[in-house]
Amino acid sequence: MTHFLDIHTTDPDQLRQIIDAGKAMKAARLGRPKGAPDDEQPLAGHMVALIFEKPSTRTRVSFDVGVRQMGGQTMVLSGADMQLGHGETIADTARVLSRYVDLIMIRTFEEQTLLEMAEHADVPVINGLTNRSHPCQIMADIQTFEEHRGPIAGKKVVWSGDGNNVCVSFIHAAGQLGFDFTFTGPQTLDPEAGFVEEARAKGVNIEIERDPMKAVEGADLVVTDTWVSMHDPQSARERRHNQLRGYQVNQRLMSNAKPDALFMHCLPAHRDDEATSEVMDGPHSVIFDEAENRLHAQKAIMRWCLGV
Ligand code: CP
Ligand code: NVA
Repeated sequence: MTHFLDIHTTDPDQLRQIIDAGKAMKAARLGRPKGAPDDEQPLAGHMVALIFEKPSTRTRVSFDVGVRQMGGQTMVLSGADMQLGHGETIADTARVLSRYVDLIMIRTFEEQTLLEMAEHADVPVINGLTNRSHPCQIMADIQTFEEHRGPIAGKKVVWSGDGNNVCVSFIHAAGQLGFDFTFTGPQTLDPEAGFVEEARAKGVNIEIERDPMKAVEGADLVVTDTWVSMHDPQSARERRHNQLRGYQVNQRLMSNAKPDALFMHCLPAHRDDEATSEVMDGPHSVIFDEAENRLHAQKAIMRWCLGV
């Protein structure tokens, strides 16, 4: 079974194959209406379940549109409306869904839920975000970087803010695809040390630098994300804002990176908190290309999972 659970557990050659396939599939439908079918229909006859235990705009719409463009059908399910949200086990849910659908994408809280789903499903499972990682996002981000600046290997990526799930998937990608990564943020919000060590062991340079102005020196890409993720308690909001204010991505910070540095944010954003609108809408920003590339990258992921 070919699941897409995380970037650090997927072979680097396979990651490269998926990223390049995403680029090719995007090029193949340039200028077409969004609802037009792809020339190839690799998902014809396939049914895909999209399960959401958390809110979503990009993941939900891009998976749904992607499946339809490739000739398949989708079923968008809210975790709360399923028996899963009322005590049915993940294992039983996985076994039952495997009798109806060919592929499962799940956005959930605990990583354990994803792993259990994958363990008990007879069809491929894709990670649509957990508290711990967001691999589909980073596949789209790598595609976006490379479209604008060429191969990401050897480049310097700087993350400013909370060392959250999206940050961790970037660290996974650094280890697998060979780029340098610097985290800048308060110590209490550092990314998980185990993942930092794992990437370092693969020979890439992973730095932690508390001074954001210093961290972004020589950066090819500056990235941030919300200061309060969906799994964080809202009670943490004020404290986090106080801790993270100094890590806002603004024009002053961007001007300390390379002159042609890109700016990314997976969205949704809290404008003028983690990043100013000046940066988000400015010349460095590729945030909407990232959002678009969710579609193309995930289509390539689904084809890889299904071997079609
Ligand atoms: N970036 C991202 O995953 O967005 P959604 O929460 O809207 O899916
Ligand atoms: N870190 C954010 C990403 C949203 C796409 C969250 O988990 O809420």
